[in-house]
This record gives sequence, structure tokens and C-alpha cells, in this order.
Amino acid sequence: MSRKKIVAANWKMNLNISEANQLTTKLKKNIAKLKSKAEIVLFTNAIYLSKASSDFKKSTKINVGAQNCYFESSGAFTGEISVEMIKSAGAKWILCGHSERRILFGETDEMIAKKVSAVLESGLNMMLCVGEDLACRKKNQQNNKVAEQLEISLGGIDKKYIDRIAIAYEPVWAIGTGVTASSTQAQEMHAFIRKNIQNILGNKAKDISILYGGSCNPSNAKELFSCKDVDGGLIGGASLDADSFTKIVASIS
Ligand code: PGA
Repeated sequence: MSRKKIVAANWKMNLNISEANQLTTKLKKNIAKLKSKAEIVLFTNAIYLSKASSDFKKSTKINVGAQNCYFESSGAFTGEISVEMIKSAGAKWILCGHSERRILFGETDEMIAKKVSAVLESGLNMMLCVGEDLACRKKNQQNNKVAEQLEISLGGIDKKYIDRIAIAYEPVWAIGTGVTASSTQAQEMHAFIRKNIQNILGNKAKDISILYGGSCNPSNAKELFSCKDVDGGLIGGASLDADSFTKIVASIS
């Protein structure tokens, strides 16, 4: 299997149902005209997951995913959503370990590892976010940080799941800040991640798609996506505008 190009939208906690309807209606029209080879994943908010999954059920280009899940299958976990619930809504992907989950909601690598296993065991696709904060980058410790996140989150999983895994490298200092990693920084880290996941999961892991995320927009996407080890992007702010997101997808030919 060769590496897939993926462009994913992370809506975060944005868009009510009517706003989400407007965005997806426009996106559908835009994407129908595109020749891009990229697979598109929309990580919608949880409220819109079921609607989006049924709207895009027949789409060959667009899949829908959840931004988070809980690792237990059911029970007294008020406010949480299980992997099986997400699956029953028709979603195909789940995002794990986004830095906002880590920083604002106290998710540890160990919790993320449990989520990763729960998603993969359910048969869904799993996108794992990793990335260092600014203090870490300033100390030139980014490789150690990312290696640790990968080892804890993926170290315990079965290699048979490789085809359903994607990684998003998102330096925390680039998320929502307007500052992107340079293409050199992105390429260096993506190559490092590719080597690491092969150490953890074996040679076949070289085909896992590794996306870049952090202030990616229509002006910088092409340069970032042209790096040898960058297989697409995870897009936050710019994914809330159908035309901007479409341009980013179009930068993968
Ligand atoms: P951003 O967010 O594109 O707004 O920086 C990316 C993300 O958090 O996934």
C-alpha cells in the first residue's frame, strides 16, 4: 500500500447545526469540481456527527470523524461519548490526543493510548496528534517529546491495525497562532516520526500518512504539502470557510 494523501478539517467547538449545514452544502459543491487525489476527513463537532455522516455516506471523497471519544464502552461516564456510539452515527474516523485535549482537559499519553486502542479495536480509523510546545522547541527537545508521545500511544497496539492509522504532527506553538512551522522544520519532524513509527510498529508503518497541522492556510499549504514526508494537513481555523478549505485540498493534485 502506498501512502495516502489526506486533508482533514478540525472544526473544534465551532458551528451550530445551521452553520454546519451551510458549510457542508458549499463544501460538497466545491469538492465535486476538484480533481485532488486527497481523501478528505471532516472532524465535525459531536452534535453534527450523525447528520454529516449520513449526508456524506455515499461520498467517495469525504469521510466524517469525531474529535474525541472515551475509551470505556458504556456506563456511568456522564458527558462522554463511546467509540461504539460514534461508529453507530456512521463516522469513519476518530481523532485522538489533540493538544487542546491534552492541555485543557488533562489528557495524558496513557489515557490517549487507551483511546487509540479502543478506536482501532472497533474497526474505525484513528488519527493520532502529536507535537511539542514552544518551551520544548526552544530547548531543542521536540524530538524527545514526540518520540515519547508516539511510544506510549502506539507501543501497545497490534501491527495489524497499521492500515487504519494516520498521524498529525501539530506543534502546539503553531496551532491557531498564525505561525506555521517552516517547511524545513516540518520535513525534519515528519521524517523523524516516520522513522520512529517503523521502530515501534515495524517496516510496514512507513506507509502511514503523516499530516501537518498548525496555522495551515491556502497560502502556505502547497509548500508544506510538497515536503517529502508531509502527506497532507489537519486544518483548524481555515477549515471553517468552505473556499479556504477547498483551496487547501486543491493544493494536493
Ligand atoms: P489551526 O488548528 O489550523 O487553527 O492552527 C489546527 C488544529 O488544531 O488541528
